[in-house]
Amino acid sequence: MTLIGAGVPRPDAADKVRGEARFVDDLAFPGMLHARVIRSPIPHGRILRVDLSRVATHPRVHCTVTPDDVPGENVVHVIYDDQPALASDVVRYVGEPVALLAAEDRESAREAETLARVDYEALPAVSDPLEALRPGAPVVAVPAAAEGRDESPNLFNRMRLVKGDVKRGFAEADVIVEGEYRTGYQEHAYLETQGAIAVPEEQGAITIYGSLQCPFYVQGAVAKVLGLPLAKVRVVQTATGGAFGGKEDVPSQVASLAALLAWKARRAVKLVYDREEDVLTTSKRHPSVVRYKSGAKKDGTLTAIEVDFVYNAGAYQTLSSAVLWRGLLTAAGPYRVPNVGIDGRSVATHTVPNGAFRGFGSPQVIFAHESQMDSLAERLGMDRLEIRRRNALRVGDETACGQKLKESVGVLETIERARELSRWEDRLRAVAAFNASHPHRRRGVGVSSVLYGVGLGAKSPFLDKAGAYLKLEADGSVTLAVGTVEMGQGLTAALSQIACDALGIRIDRLQLTPVDTTRVPDSGPTVASRGTLMSGLAVLDAVKKLRARILDASNGLGIPEEEIPARLNEIARSFFLRNLDPAVEGWAHAEPVDWDPETGLGNPYFVYSYATHVAEVEVDLTTGEISLEDCVAVHDSGKILNQGTASGQVEGGIVQGLGFAVTEEIAEKDGRLKVKGFTTYRIPTIRDAPPSPTVEFVEALYSPGPFGAKGLGEVPLMAAHAAIARAIAHAIGKAVSAYPLSPERVRQALAS
Ligand code: MTE
Ligand code: MOS
Repeated sequence: MTLIGAGVPRPDAADKVRGEARFVDDLAFPGMLHARVIRSPIPHGRILRVDLSRVATHPRVHCTVTPDDVPGENVVHVIYDDQPALASDVVRYVGEPVALLAAEDRESAREAETLARVDYEALPAVSDPLEALRPGAPVVAVPAAAEGRDESPNLFNRMRLVKGDVKRGFAEADVIVEGEYRTGYQEHAYLETQGAIAVPEEQGAITIYGSLQCPFYVQGAVAKVLGLPLAKVRVVQTATGGAFGGKEDVPSQVASLAALLAWKARRAVKLVYDREEDVLTTSKRHPSVVRYKSGAKKDGTLTAIEVDFVYNAGAYQTLSSAVLWRGLLTAAGPYRVPNVGIDGRSVATHTVPNGAFRGFGSPQVIFAHESQMDSLAERLGMDRLEIRRRNALRVGDETACGQKLKESVGVLETIERARELSRWEDRLRAVAAFNASHPHRRRGVGVSSVLYGVGLGAKSPFLDKAGAYLKLEADGSVTLAVGTVEMGQGLTAALSQIACDALGIRIDRLQLTPVDTTRVPDSGPTVASRGTLMSGLAVLDAVKKLRARILDASNGLGIPEEEIPARLNEIARSFFLRNLDPAVEGWAHAEPVDWDPETGLGNPYFVYSYATHVAEVEVDLTTGEISLEDCVAVHDSGKILNQGTASGQVEGGIVQGLGFAVTEEIAEKDGRLKVKGFTTYRIPTIRDAPPSPTVEFVEALYSPGPFGAKGLGEVPLMAAHAAIARAIAHAIGKAVSAYPLSPERVRQALAS
């Protein structure tokens, strides 16, 4: 097992560092046209007239597309099919696509866009989810199949979880704390904006090249909008410059729009969003309002929690039901809670549809549950790490939804290691000493523990599968294809290591091919931190099959088993000469899950990852500015396959968490987002990152996982933001209840 855990350099790194990786905008096809999307300027209105006559007569415009041109169904297929590809009668958010154009070059396309005339009758809009739930609020458009519609015309989904007896639990409590927590938008801020190229092929087929996370979602969406069989739609992922969940559902829209134009033009069409367009019109993290009540005994033991949370879903469902579901199942944190009542709602408003973002509906409730743990500790005069330690889940315990944990529960270890590595007690003393000697500055320390259900779980168990294709070339090198994508998180490295380690070959003897829907069966989406786990298992399955054939062949050649790696080229040559089949397919699916929507109880996930972060911040009392001085991050994601990429995930997650909690903000007024690309959206830079964070992994192995691995990708952000927020609260000695903790908010809190 020499390649597992080692810091093998990422096979995809050199090209990216040299600028040689080819992103979608680097590609061109013969006769390729450039697309622009004509979008709604208002949050809600009836379309009275779409006049594209001046667009169409622009000398460089090749064609335009309106809903009448849609050959299949006019929808962006995600979960509920409520979102039209092009709005035909009503627009429901600023930026909603209304019509399309394709021109010979990008500049002409931009020019022609300004020639479009669309008349609207403005209708009343609602942008606040609580307002949208009030009787008489303007109605968005909730599909008939939605889970909440009977209660309110704007309620997309309502999900509940009830365990034990909450009333009794609070009666048994010695202290009860309550709080309301709000979080705002977070934009993914991937460096590469959304983009796709659609290329019409022979025999009525089409190929999509795109920056995306879920090739099979895009395949389904394009097939639906064009009215084609799935077999006529091929999707190839291009090098993807970050995604963070933002390329889970949105590429289905981008690719569908490009495909509509390409289909009509019978030419290749490129659609790449501008930054401003991307930030304004694509999904973000759901803004939230979370109300929380927690009870504990004198010794800190939790007796009950009651949670009510509302997520602003935007104008269409997209992924909101899945995002809400994860919020529901994360709201209790990594703790034993005997009596639980959780009620979550996702609400339609006339704003951009929100979707997946690293953590997928969990960071919002984590801010709340970690604030509550600190409030309980404070009321009990108990150490904040200690109250977490006492309640932390262990093997054999039941989660809030009644799932008995059979193995691989490392949360306690993450708490204990975080205490040691952060020198918790010393640090608290040092911070107090600092504060005593600095009249205008305050330091604070915060902690946050989290759990994360890996994979899609019982919300869509049919998606937790993966395929792999593995071929022994005639010279002993190996070609590998999988159906989950590299988007920066290090999948290429992890999967190459798994395959090469098991075959005993060097990393540079294996080529992982670009993800292509024609190479492997539907492997589900690259989300929910499932990539390494699920594709890793599929790769191992393929390796097992190939190794059996290699063993056969080597027996025939009289090569002893231990010499196979060194003589693989000889064996491969014999495959070729003896007409043996050198290719295999691997397949994997997750362990069974189950969940009861009536009670919210069951075994929703096959395994959980855990983490504990400790953050130290300094607050400037005059300006309210915050600097993140240090962070200690301890994760249990089972076996770590590559220390380098795993640490990179954690360091990146800390910075993204800092953005969520402190710097990133999008104001919204009357359904209009007040944001101009990165000019006004402030993501943290390297200067804001903690100078030398401590990252450690405790490896509570998951026996069905590849080498015992679970999932890591999203967890660092989930743990980081709340530790930072709690450190800020500790520093200023005031409650903090809304993100982002901008200088203005911090000054307000100080003044309160
Ligand atoms: N890291 C980088 N560099 N870029 C990304 O887009 N996406 C995150 C996380 N880390 C992301 C990332 C999200 S949202 C997910 S779901 C996981 O990576 C997916 O990767 P995995 O399943 O391989 O862990
Ligand atoms: Mo990640 S939000 O599950 O793409």
